[in-house]
Amino acid sequence: MLTVIGLSGSLRRHSFNTALLRAAADLMPAGAVLDLRTLHGIPVYNADDEAATGIPPAAAALKDAVAAADGLIFSTPEYNNSMPGVAKNGIDWLSRPPSDIKRVFGGKPVAIMSASPGGFGAVLSQTAWLPVMKTLGASVWSGPRLTVSRAGSVFAEDGSLTDDTIREQLRKFLAGFVASLQGR
Ligand code: FNR
Repeated sequence: MLTVIGLSGSLRRHSFNTALLRAAADLMPAGAVLDLRTLHGIPVYNADDEAATGIPPAAAALKDAVAAADGLIFSTPEYNNSMPGVAKNGIDWLSRPPSDIKRVFGGKPVAIMSASPGGFGAVLSQTAWLPVMKTLGASVWSGPRLTVSRAGSVFAEDGSLTDDTIREQLRKFLAGFVASLQGR
């Protein structure tokens, strides 16, 4: 059984990106499970704090989960045409200490998807993540792009995915990513 971490780049309770990952968990192809994680509990990075107390427990646990997983699906919001600071902060903590980057991210298959209430589905945030993933040595999956735009009309109040077209796109996205993992 392949384990894929589904990491949301939003802390918001009713986050569209977290909702997208919840839908993904239900649509995973046979032979793979999605382990949904968030960045809750990870503090703002401060090198003085790291020097004094090391890696915060929430970041250390997430690092170990990513390191052990077969792949990572990262669902990212877009803030001001780039990645949200809170998401970058979380990934920055996961990259500490540098001696651990290879264990956590080295060659790690990463699929990036995104959701936004706007018309462009946070595509610029996806693009902004590429140099970060490259720097960390991750292997970014280059299958079809999944950008969920007008997210307010794609998810119901309870966060469930109600749009059949997006559901099919998500199903294909997951099938493609998992097939790439099975072929490794
Ligand atoms: C946004 N939002 C936004 N959306 C977008 O598509 N492009 C953008 O550049 C921005 N910029 C932006 C800046 C800031 C500071 C905030 C707070 C928000 C809207 C954003 O997509 C929206 O809040 C989503 O709901 C965030 O994703 P989650 O939390 O629903 O996953």
